[in-house]
Amino acid sequence: MAEGRPEPLERPVPEGIIPEDVIARTERRWLIIMLGALALLGGIIVVTGITGALHPPSNVETADPTSLHLSGEFVESNLGSAIEPDGSVTARLIAQQFSFVPDCVLVPADIPVKFRITSADVIHGFILPYTNVNTMVVPGFVAEVRTTFDKPADYTMPCHEFCGAGHQGMWAHVRVVPKEQFPNLAPVERTSCAR
Ligand code: CUA
Repeated sequence: MAEGRPEPLERPVPEGIIPEDVIARTERRWLIIMLGALALLGGIIVVTGITGALHPPSNVETADPTSLHLSGEFVESNLGSAIEPDGSVTARLIAQQFSFVPDCVLVPADIPVKFRITSADVIHGFILPYTNVNTMVVPGFVAEVRTTFDKPADYTMPCHEFCGAGHQGMWAHVRVVPKEQFPNLAPVERTSCAR
């Protein structure tokens, strides 16, 4: 039976049709390029994660956005910066349409700072240019970002997630002061820097 089947004819490939082996070779090349790009991007994530302390900011802690002002960590009297028993500083903020509370955050240089932020309404963003601080602020969750500022500076802090009609006006400030000055500027337990 098999001997009865004729060999397929070797016919010339018609004009405009790309031969199969050329297609296979092209696909292989693109596969290699794609795997190379994937390896490069994966490498960038690992290197920046280790050297720049860039990390996925969410730590999957929840906070009820409807009762932030009533109880828990984000009541108004608990917002702003506070020195922890271990000497580090924690700054707590609420993002809401269309402001940050407090709108000016005072933190020291050369001391580890932990930002804890949550949203009272929709998704906002929190970014400090030229630092590793960059996170989305999602209602229902607490965003936590750790950093250490190496010198005093004034950061303007734009909301960088579109959050409604007033988004482009949603700004706040982070003021980094020398660490010797911080206890004097922060005589109360929770502090901010009203402008
Ligand atoms: Cu908040 Cu954009």
